[in-house]
Amino acid sequence: MRTPIDDFVRAYAASDRLRMHMPGHKGAGDVEAFDLTEVQGADSLYEAEGIIRESEENASTLFGAHTFYSAEGSSLCIRAMLYLAQLWAAREGKPLRVAAGRNAHKTFLSAVALLGAEVDWLSPPGESYLACPLTAEYVKTWLREHSATALYLTSPDYLGNTVDVGAIATVCRKHGVLLLVDNAHGAYLKFLPVSRHPMDLGADLCCDSAHKTLPALTGAAYLHVSKAAPDTLRTHAKAAMALFGSTSPSYLILASLDRVNRYLSEGYGERLAAFGAQKAALEEALVSHGFVTAGNEPLKLTVLPKSYGYTGTELAEYLRGRGIEPEFCDPDHLVLMLSPERSADLAPLRAALLSLPRKAPRSTQPPRLAALPQAVLTPREAILSPDEYLPAEACVGRVLASLTVGCPPAVPILVSGERIEPEHLPLFAYYGVTHLRVVKA
Ligand SMILES: Cc1ncc(COP(=O)(O)O)c(C=O)c1O
Repeated sequence: MRTPIDDFVRAYAASDRLRMHMPGHKGAGDVEAFDLTEVQGADSLYEAEGIIRESEENASTLFGAHTFYSAEGSSLCIRAMLYLAQLWAAREGKPLRVAAGRNAHKTFLSAVALLGAEVDWLSPPGESYLACPLTAEYVKTWLREHSATALYLTSPDYLGNTVDVGAIATVCRKHGVLLLVDNAHGAYLKFLPVSRHPMDLGADLCCDSAHKTLPALTGAAYLHVSKAAPDTLRTHAKAAMALFGSTSPSYLILASLDRVNRYLSEGYGERLAAFGAQKAALEEALVSHGFVTAGNEPLKLTVLPKSYGYTGTELAEYLRGRGIEPEFCDPDHLVLMLSPERSADLAPLRAALLSLPRKAPRSTQPPRLAALPQAVLTPREAILSPDEYLPAEACVGRVLASLTVGCPPAVPILVSGERIEPEHLPLFAYYGVTHLRVVKA
C-alpha cells in the first residue's frame, strides 16, 4: 500500500527548500524537520483532494468504511459524530436525543453540552450504574418505552469489556435509531480473524484512536462512517471534523496514520491472531495460578488483584519495581495494554506476576450505588454556570459544574448538572476525590 503523506513529508524534509512558512522552527531539529504545515502539495485535511485523500482512501479500503483522519484523537471524532447525528436528526425534523451508556468518555459530555443535545442514561435496573453491562434485550425494552434519535455505546471500555454491538445494532435499526460507537480502544478489532469492529457489526458511526492500539503517534484517530449509513453522515463528515478541529493539523500525526495503512496491509491480521493465542495462554496461566482477570479483548490484560491479596495500586508499584509500567491502576483493577509487535514482553510480565507471593484476599469493595444521580440542570446549563471549587463534604445538595467526576476508569460517579447526595461521599473517599467544581449557590 502506498504512503503518499509520509513520502511527501520525508521528501520535503530531505529537500533544501527555504521554509518561509509556518511552523516557526523552520524544520530545524530531528523531529521538526518532518513537521510541516499545508504547503503546496501537502493537501489540506478538511478539503482533501491530494495525498491526504489518497491516504484516507487507503484507510477506507482497510476498514471497509468511509474513513476520515483525525490528528486530535477520538475526542475530535466524538464531537463530530454527535454533530453529524444532530444534522441527521434535524433532517428528520427531530431534536438530537441520545441514549448513552454511562461509561461514556467525558468528551461525550462536552459534545452534548456544546450541541445542547438531550441525554438519557442507559442503566439496567438492579445493576450498579458504575458498571455498564448493556445488552440488546435491555436496549430493546428501553427503546420500546422511550424515544431516542441516537444510541451511543462505548465498547471496548477502558477495562477491556465489550458489548454485543451487533445485536444492539439490529435493535437500533428496527427503531430507526442511529448507532454511534466509541471504539477508541478497538481500532485493531477490524483485523481479528473474525472482525469485531463496529463498522462490521452494524454501527452507523464510530471513532477509533489509532494511537491507543496501533503503532501510531498520540492523537492519531479515525472517524468511520458506515457504507450503509444515511448519506448525510458521509457528505458532512469533513465539515463536522472541521467544525471542532484545529486549522493546523499535525503532519507528524497524519504521516503516522499513513504509515499505519501499510503496516496494517502487510500481515497485521496474521500477527494479531498469533499474538491473541499467546496472550490467551498467558491469561490462562495467570488464572490457574490464582489471579482473577476481566475483559474480553486480546490487546488488554485486566487483573482484579484483590482476591490475590493486593490492590491494583500495589500491584502496579510491584510491576514498576520490575521495570513494567501499566496503563492504569486503581484499588480494584490493573490494566496492561499489549501489542502484537511486543510478544517478547509477555515473558517478563508472566515471570513477574507468577513470582508474586499470594496473600490473604482483600475484602474491601467500592461502595455500591444503584440509583442514577438526579439531573437538576442539563450538561450545557451546568458547564456554562458560574462555579466554585469546594471540598467534597461541602458539596452535598449542590450541582456538579465540571464535566464529570470520574471513578472506575471512565465511568463517572456524577456528570455535569447532577446533584451531589450524601451517598456519593463514600465513593469520593474511596477514589480519592477531595474537591469538586459545583454550580455557584
Ligand atoms: C473510551 C474512550 N473514548 C475516547 C477517548 C478519547 O480518545 P483520544 O485520547 O484519542 O482523544 C478515550 C481516551 O482515553 C477513551 O478512553
